[in-house]
Amino acid sequence: MSKDYELATQGVRAGQARTEFQEHSEALFLTSSFVFENARQAAARFAGEDDGMVYTRYTNPTVSMFQRRLAALEGAESCVATASGMAAILATAMVHLKSGDHVVCSNAVFGATIQLFNNVLARFGIETTYVSPTRTEEWARAVKKNTKLLFLETPSNPLTEVSDIAVLSTIARKAGALLAVDNVFCTPALQRPLELGADLVVHSATKYLDGQGRVIAGAVAGSKALVGDPMTAFLRTAGPTLSPFNAWVVLKGLETLQLRMLAQSAAALELARWLESHPKVARVHYPGLASHPQHELAKRQQRAAGSVLSFEVKGAREAAWRVIDSTRLVSVTANLGDVKTTIIHPASTTHGRISPEARAAAGITEGLIRVAVGLEAVADLKDDLKRGLEA
Ligand SMILES: Cc1ncc(COP(=O)(O)O)c(C=O)c1O
Repeated sequence: MSKDYELATQGVRAGQARTEFQEHSEALFLTSSFVFENARQAAARFAGEDDGMVYTRYTNPTVSMFQRRLAALEGAESCVATASGMAAILATAMVHLKSGDHVVCSNAVFGATIQLFNNVLARFGIETTYVSPTRTEEWARAVKKNTKLLFLETPSNPLTEVSDIAVLSTIARKAGALLAVDNVFCTPALQRPLELGADLVVHSATKYLDGQGRVIAGAVAGSKALVGDPMTAFLRTAGPTLSPFNAWVVLKGLETLQLRMLAQSAAALELARWLESHPKVARVHYPGLASHPQHELAKRQQRAAGSVLSFEVKGAREAAWRVIDSTRLVSVTANLGDVKTTIIHPASTTHGRISPEARAAAGITEGLIRVAVGLEAVADLKDDLKRGLEA
């Protein structure tokens, strides 16, 4: 599909391949293997001389459609689909790092990503240094001779700190390292890291790409040299590929991605402004607010501020829990990226295993509540939060 089409069009159309039946909607190929016309064709496929289908751990038409569509959305030459977002990060590390290498990582990435670097990759001789997501000078200082990867997530969870992708890509390039951006919170509908100089984009497609909280899925996008060739080979051999059913669900999710991301961002902005003016709220963290420390950067780097916000209520944990426990509409769950609004108390859940001192240093206060805004009417969301805030 031509690169001239707008993002909304790519989300609906890119990557589709029709069968002989000319189905209008994308077909779901629930098959583990594919048959060959004859022994010669089988041999050619195994030898890689004919790129037809062999086995779903290698390729599958539905998975390929998802990969092509997401590649088009990210402006990437290629994309590989993985069984989960964590499998996407693992595959990135397994393909691009080796024993003796060093990683510089934002200290505000998803908890399992930190566990992957500290508890798994460290056992294979890969060392990681954590730095502030916003202070770029810390990244430059942390780089060593053996640094091969810079890894970040922007905006961060739950404080929505925004990292400067263009500046960090310059630091990576100077160091001879790759820059990987976890684009879960923005998706390509709001932010295209490759255009800002990143080498790799990783996704938990479980979140906004699906958008309706149905499946676990992941992906990595980038050049053919960094993603298409080596990561396809890794996934074929190691096996954390995406199931065709999950690929089909996420493929259909991409059709409404732009619409959802813009509508959810607009709703989050309205809710953030209302919370900021509420007397029981001490602080709101949302990149769309002028009070956000990286508001100008977010405006340059993102098309909209995203659906995640967090706010601190006056009265610490007791007051925060009261707000959460008084809701009747929003879902109390740690997940996000759904059209159903979710709410969680990070200090006692997602960040509960971190020491109170480290939590305080990271700004995860006892009064902090994270909301991932969905597609319900904002007036209903305000009423739901008001009940606990004004109790
Ligand atoms: C920013 C981010 N990256 C990666 C992941 C991991 O994705 P998955 O749960 O699909 O493995 C998550 C999951 O919450 C996430 O929020």
